[in-house]
Amino acid sequence: MTGPADRILELRRLIRHHEERYYVLADPEITDDAFDALMEELEALERAYPELVTPDSPTRRVGGRPAEGFATVEHAAPMLSLDNAYSEDELRAFDERVRKGLDAGDGPVGYVAELKIDGLSIALTYEDGLLVRGVTRGDGVHGEDVTSNVRVIRAIPLGLRDAPAGRVEVRGEIYLPRPAFDRLNREREDREEPLFANPRNAAAGAMRNLDPAEVARRGLRAFVYQLVLPEGAPPVAARHAETLDRLAAWGLPVARGWRACAGIDEVVAYCAEWADRRGGLDFETDGVVVKVDALADRARLGATSKFPRWALAFKFPAQQATTRLLQIAVNVGRTGAVTPYAVLEPVRLSGSTISLATLHNAQEVARKDLREGDLVLVEKGGDVIPKIVKPILAGRPEGSRPWEMPRACPVCGSALQKPEDEVVWRCPNPSCAARIRRSLLHFASRRAMNIEGLGESLVNQLVERGLVRDFADLYTLNAPTLAALERMGNKSAANLVGEIEQSRTRDLWRVVYAIGIRHVGERGAQALAAAFGAMQALIDARPEALETVPDVGPVVARAVRDFFDEPRNLALMARLVTGPDAPLQPVAPAVGAGAATLPFAGQTFVLTGTLEAFSRDEAAAAIEARGGRVTSAVSRKTSYVVVGADPGSKLEKARALGVRMLDEAAFKRLIMD
Ligand code: IVH
Repeated sequence: MTGPADRILELRRLIRHHEERYYVLADPEITDDAFDALMEELEALERAYPELVTPDSPTRRVGGRPAEGFATVEHAAPMLSLDNAYSEDELRAFDERVRKGLDAGDGPVGYVAELKIDGLSIALTYEDGLLVRGVTRGDGVHGEDVTSNVRVIRAIPLGLRDAPAGRVEVRGEIYLPRPAFDRLNREREDREEPLFANPRNAAAGAMRNLDPAEVARRGLRAFVYQLVLPEGAPPVAARHAETLDRLAAWGLPVARGWRACAGIDEVVAYCAEWADRRGGLDFETDGVVVKVDALADRARLGATSKFPRWALAFKFPAQQATTRLLQIAVNVGRTGAVTPYAVLEPVRLSGSTISLATLHNAQEVARKDLREGDLVLVEKGGDVIPKIVKPILAGRPEGSRPWEMPRACPVCGSALQKPEDEVVWRCPNPSCAARIRRSLLHFASRRAMNIEGLGESLVNQLVERGLVRDFADLYTLNAPTLAALERMGNKSAANLVGEIEQSRTRDLWRVVYAIGIRHVGERGAQALAAAFGAMQALIDARPEALETVPDVGPVVARAVRDFFDEPRNLALMARLVTGPDAPLQPVAPAVGAGAATLPFAGQTFVLTGTLEAFSRDEAAAAIEARGGRVTSAVSRKTSYVVVGADPGSKLEKARALGVRMLDEAAFKRLIMD
């Protein structure tokens, strides 16, 4: 008979197996629903038997966030970077240096060629097979401890299969797959936030986030390519190719496509092959890493202060193509900013078909002298968003004329405006349909009012049919009206009405962010909400009062004042928040003004045992004064358990749930900082 303990083990094995099929091998065996069912069964069992929870359980991926940012730690061995090559000649020169160093005579040197993943390097430490630490490369000697973020990356196993006892360090790359990157940038575009230039920047940005739940949503993945054993530990393999096989056998993600090459000719062929094929991958690669295969040979070759002598990065050339620039069109954003973009005759480039390119602003179009009808050179380099390098003048049609920014908004016809000292043209009409559509998408977006289901096609219909002209109109919608729209059934209509209802009581900062005041991002909105505590107080705030808020400078203060000084905005605020029948009842910050900027804001503490220097009340007061909360029961949501002498059962519970624990000295350090 199998008891809960056996079933829990079986579920964990199954879940890891399917995570590996999905995230590592890209070859799933079951549906997402079937996978979710396994997770739910495990979660239910672990809730019923908390004593059976272990830190490597897949339910433990998302834990607490690091309280004081990421700690800096020293790498066991420096993380070197690689020397680069840009041509076949440079590859052959590398081979010459290696052969000389090894006295290899005429025989070929064995290499392994791997794809160079364009992400950010990570060092993962496993102790007795359990993931205990993840550290970024940093400056190569010191990196940041990002363990809490690494744990949520499901390509990375929390426990290894059949790994050696003791400590092993595995190095690799964290990256954002192309589809996740595209989705992220689409969301940012809707919110008029600056786009990430490439998946590497997006991955690095995600890893700097202090909230692991947010990191989990980004969809990061990882590949590993190096094993670092402690000095004196028995070797796992004699060759790199074997090492890669072992890493994969332990359940770690190894990028497919690597090849053992007998001599540099095969390496050259591999580089040429992947320069063409790389566009078909779902991750970015900017080259090939060539490595001497025999580990003993690597040891003989050694390293310079910066690079190993046994490895080299061959960089692919930026991919370029020529195509016709059909039209220079313009987009109108939420703030009225009008930006030109290029409509191209579709052309294949790095594995995707390009038909649009950004042009930033009118000045840039003039600088490059781009004209409609031109033959243009387009490029996809380190940046994923294609850019137009230049017009090819020989292909310029006769009679072409320099491009000019339209004088009128293409959507509402208002005359466009541009202040003397700015480069951006704007549509000044706040009722412009393009501005309204963009504003509504921003208002509904996940980081703002989080109204799920209010996407682009729906917003377009609502605005086109005159059903919604501003944020307040959203709260007048009912299910029958919504159900009559295209691609909406009764069920989605009812769901959306439910989502809109729920958004009535969002946190105040979300409302402040959602209404789209220029220059006010999430952080600014949080600071303003914490300082003023209510929308009316913010509306009434004088510029001097605004400027005293942390994170709010004169530009933001001016923008806030300008926003509320505009009578149309003020009227909208009355209909939306401040008036007698207004739909929104935002929730003021919980712990008094300024809480969001206090060091323990959003964190919960549990106290157990006796502390020497504090009574229980004093410890609780110290936590609350810093914006934290003290609760009596340990749960997965607990940020810290403070452990004094003679602790009770809470200690066991904290251990089982993997909650961070602080002894008195660590607690003191935390509150002194
Ligand atoms: S081996 C001692 N293999 O490229 C050097 N690096 O430009 C060990 N990278 O810092 C690195 N893919 O972050 C290696 N297959 C691969 C790689 C790879 C990407 C990164 C790595 C390194 C950088 C050097």
